[in-house]
Amino acid sequence: MSSTLFRTKNVEQSILDTEESDHALKKSLSALDLTVFGVGVIIGTGIFVLTGTVAKNNAGPAVALAFVVAGVVCALAALCYAEFASTVPVAGSAYTFSYASLGELPAWIIGWDLVLEFALGTAVVAVGWSGYIASLLDNVGWHLPASLSGREGADGFGFDILAAALVLLLTAVLVVGTKLSARVTAVVVAVKVTVVLTVVVAGAFFVTGDNYHPFIPKAQEVPAGEGLKSPLIQLMFGWAPANFGVMGIFTAASVVFFAFIGFDVVATAAEETRNPQRDMPRGILGSLFICTVLYVAVSIVVTGMEHYTKLSVDAPLADAFKATGHPWFAGFISFGAAVGLTTVCMILLLGQTRVFFAMSRDGLLPTFFSHVHPRFRTPHRPTILLGVIIAILAGFTSLSELAELVNIGTLFAFVVVAIGVIILRRTRPDLPRSFRTPWMPFLPVLSVCASLWLMLNLPAETWLRFGIWMVIGFAVYFFYGRGHSLLGRREAATAGEAAKRPNGGAR
Ligand code: ALA
Repeated sequence: MSSTLFRTKNVEQSILDTEESDHALKKSLSALDLTVFGVGVIIGTGIFVLTGTVAKNNAGPAVALAFVVAGVVCALAALCYAEFASTVPVAGSAYTFSYASLGELPAWIIGWDLVLEFALGTAVVAVGWSGYIASLLDNVGWHLPASLSGREGADGFGFDILAAALVLLLTAVLVVGTKLSARVTAVVVAVKVTVVLTVVVAGAFFVTGDNYHPFIPKAQEVPAGEGLKSPLIQLMFGWAPANFGVMGIFTAASVVFFAFIGFDVVATAAEETRNPQRDMPRGILGSLFICTVLYVAVSIVVTGMEHYTKLSVDAPLADAFKATGHPWFAGFISFGAAVGLTTVCMILLLGQTRVFFAMSRDGLLPTFFSHVHPRFRTPHRPTILLGVIIAILAGFTSLSELAELVNIGTLFAFVVVAIGVIILRRTRPDLPRSFRTPWMPFLPVLSVCASLWLMLNLPAETWLRFGIWMVIGFAVYFFYGRGHSLLGRREAATAGEAAKRPNGGAR
């Protein structure tokens, strides 16, 4: 049985599967498209919302260091992703990579994990978007009833209609085609980057040096009884749970990690890239680098504009300008944030449908979902199914803690990819690799340790929720995926033919 759980899909077969016309996605993306995609999905709720929360609760002005820590963890993972994506240019990201290196069960686990990451990530960002839109509407005197803005109304009903509407609209855009979405993305990304640069350049004039003291605030013990809300590492070692101080920087890093999620999504578009061997590494590393520089700059400026204890947790970038007496800057930033979050949402949704598509093409999920639209050549069925589910999720759920669940899932994927890159170098040294991870195997091992370290800094309750999702995933695999696996069927057919030969298949 263990041999079937760890059966690997041949890399050549993976590439061949994508060329069957009924299952083939259009190859239209360039390195620039990919970088724009990356920046489009990376800059979002993380920098626009979490910076304030984390500076206020965990790290003070040292939130800039938390961004550096999270950025380094992502860069290590990116170097592994880049080698895998340039070797196995097939839709499905870490899922496909693991299928080619670690085997079917690990691939299933990672695919299931990515569905969680992207689905909840999309919902989290949609809710953040709806908050910004609601605040812009408030500015012009329009107010949605409480029950339609995500809070419970007088009748006890609460549905975030804006968040749900956004997800449904983006679903329609994705069904029509990636190229259209890439164009829309490019315009929106330009707006978003302009807003971020405005914060950095204009904000620099309002920085007060005193706000940086203390840069790393002293550690403060958190009240007893928070239990599962404490980082797992503090519970494991029996440390007194504390905020701020040096450990606070790591707690902050494990949260602001959300701000970097997205560069891995670039890898999910490998199959739709014209020259994946050359363009994937450029797209992934380029977008990650740009975002890291912008995040560090923004967090230094914002914590210099307003003392960290006074930062707002809902719209910290805009509110820092209000605090310095420049409300029109605040309006411009809110508008840009709302526009920018749209692309984040769209690309997370895209990544999610592509993983689901790849899993169904392999038979691990019903193959009904693996047929592309005859005209648009997009995987319309999983796009519509998942779009509707996420719209409902975004409408009904309050998602702040779920951001941490998204982080743990993504970090787990990083661990698997880094291990996979080492294994594939050994099992398939012959494969052409236009990008090779440097310092093998030291760098991937370091990447595994760094990702695990951030995971351990997440709350224990996040680990619990992640465990439950994974148990459900195992059940689906053993009751459905394992028996329907296309790879399993191919292997069974080959074995059957061998057995029919006169000598019983013996060679
Ligand atoms: N990195 C994306 C964001 O911050 C997911 O919203």
